[in-house]
Amino acid sequence: MAYQTLIVEIEDSVALIRLNRPEALNALNSALLGELADALKQLDANDKVRCIVLTGSEKAFAAGADIKEMSEKSFVEMFTADFFGVEADSLLRTRKPIIAAVAGYALGGGCELAMMCDFIICADNAKFGQPEINLGVVAGIGGTQRLTRFVGKSKSMDMHLTGRFMDAAEAERSGLVSRVVPVAQLVPEALAAARKIASKSAVATMVVKECVNRAYETTLREGVLFERRVFHALFATEDQKEGMSAFLEKREPQFRDK
Ligand code: HXC
Repeated sequence: MAYQTLIVEIEDSVALIRLNRPEALNALNSALLGELADALKQLDANDKVRCIVLTGSEKAFAAGADIKEMSEKSFVEMFTADFFGVEADSLLRTRKPIIAAVAGYALGGGCELAMMCDFIICADNAKFGQPEINLGVVAGIGGTQRLTRFVGKSKSMDMHLTGRFMDAAEAERSGLVSRVVPVAQLVPEALAAARKIASKSAVATMVVKECVNRAYETTLREGVLFERRVFHALFATEDQKEGMSAFLEKREPQFRDK
């Protein structure tokens, strides 16, 4: 998979996507987001891939949407292109788990991109922010909605209204990230988590993703019912039989995604 703005490697059933626009701190332009949407579509369809890690550089996961690309656009241009809505929707259609591994800046669209992944592991130098207010705009690919669900109204308002950055300790304390590790260990830690996920039944991991995401989309009663029904449905899989037999026989399960 050859791209201009991404580096994609596949090893041990895990795909590692690196955003690669170092000259602009991985600012998200149409080319990069188009390539990312394409890469995710292909990796989702690739039987050799069971989990995906998305990362940037040690200095920046992504410093936001590309301000140079956007600055002269009109409302009509932004609206008719549904600017970055198409790419964001495409990313959200990925059914395999995606871990965001964030070091350095994750600002604006960069923070939003990380939040669209399934969970975030960050380095101790990470800085999250929604500084669009400094540019006279607002987040545009879900920041006001997702950050509020992650960290609550008060902190989300603070971040969006003042444009201040959140460091790794605050991000972990507030539930934005699942783990913080030293920067040199970020990618190894994320890859190890991805390999662990890759060892599970792929059907079950996709179901987990659907269930947890449902918590954002529906009422508690409907979400719990959805979960119970898919829990029941998994008893139609061979992987359920294998997982439970392996436990009872005190051995490691051999899942076959069936
Ligand atoms: C375009 C960017 C960029 C961006 C950095 N660069 N962020 N280019 N769009 N978002 C470029 C700089 O212009 C510079 O290029 C190079 O990257 C290095 O950046 P510096 O500013 O020199 O680095 P530093 O002093 O270390 O400061 C880092 C920084 C700062 C704090 C991250 O770059 C910054 O504040 N960036 C903008 C962050 C931001 O406002 N993001 C939100 C964007 S709006 P040159 O060529 O000068 O060397 C958004 C809306 C999303 O994301 C909505 C989606 C539709």
